[in-house]
Amino acid sequence: MSRNYYIAGNWKMHKTRQEAAELAGALVEGLKDGKHKYLVAPSFTLLETVAPIVKGTNIRLGAQNMAVDVQGAHTGETSVLQLKDLGVQTVILGHSERRHLYKEDDELINKKVKLALRHGLEVILCVGELLEEREAGRAEAVCETQTVKGLEGILVTDLANIVIAYEPVWAIGTGKTATPEDADAIHAWVRGVIGRLYGAAAAGDIIIQYGGSVKPDNAAQLMAKENIDGALVGGAALKADSFVPIGKFS
Ligand code: 13P
Repeated sequence: MSRNYYIAGNWKMHKTRQEAAELAGALVEGLKDGKHKYLVAPSFTLLETVAPIVKGTNIRLGAQNMAVDVQGAHTGETSVLQLKDLGVQTVILGHSERRHLYKEDDELINKKVKLALRHGLEVILCVGELLEEREAGRAEAVCETQTVKGLEGILVTDLANIVIAYEPVWAIGTGKTATPEDADAIHAWVRGVIGRLYGAAAAGDIIIQYGGSVKPDNAAQLMAKENIDGALVGGAALKADSFVPIGKFS
C-alpha cells in the first residue's frame, strides 16, 4: 500500500487572470516545501495564465471538466486536446455541480473518464450523495453506483491515473462538513468497491479525497482517518491563507 496525501483546489467559476496569477504565485511560494501532492484547477480561461506559474513546481495543473468528444462542432465545449495543449495534467470529472446543475449522468462521465485516460490525463472522479439520499440511508449505494458506472471498462492498469473524490453534495459550500467518521465510512465503502472490482492491492493504493467544506481547522482531523487520503477544496482554495495551511496540515 503506497498512498500519499493529495490536496487539490477547485477554483470553480472564480478569479480573473490577474487574481489567478496572484493566487497561483502565492501557492507556489507557500507550498514549495509542502510534503504532499498538490493541484489547482482554475477555469478554462485561466489555464494559460496559471500554467507557466505552476510549471516545474510541486503543483499540478487541472481542469474542472472536459468535453466528451475529441473535437468538432460542439459550441461551448473544451476538448482534451485543447487542455493538453495548455499543459493540463489532470481533469476533474463528475463533480456534483456537473451532475446536478448540468445533468451529466454516469454514462457520459464514464465516456469522459475513458477519453481522458486514453490521452494520458489523470482523472479525479467525483462521487457523492444528496442530502435526501443520505437521509434515506442510501449514501453508500449512491456512491457505489457512481463509482462502478464511472469506472466501467477501466482496466486495473489505468487505476494509477484515477483518484476518487468523495464529495457529499450537502457538504459542498455549506460550511457543513461530514464528520471525519462519516466521511471515513464512505471512503472505506468506496475502497471496498474498488477491492471487489480490481482486487485488494488496487484498493489499498487508490487515493480517495474528501471534499465538502474542508477548511484549515478541520483538515487535520479528516486526514487523520485511515481511508481519507487528501482533499478536494472549493471555497478555502481561493485564498493562499487558507489553502496553504490545508496543504500543510499536520
Ligand atoms: P467547498 O470546499 O466550497 O465546500 O467545495 C467543495 C468542492 O466542491 C470541491 O470540488
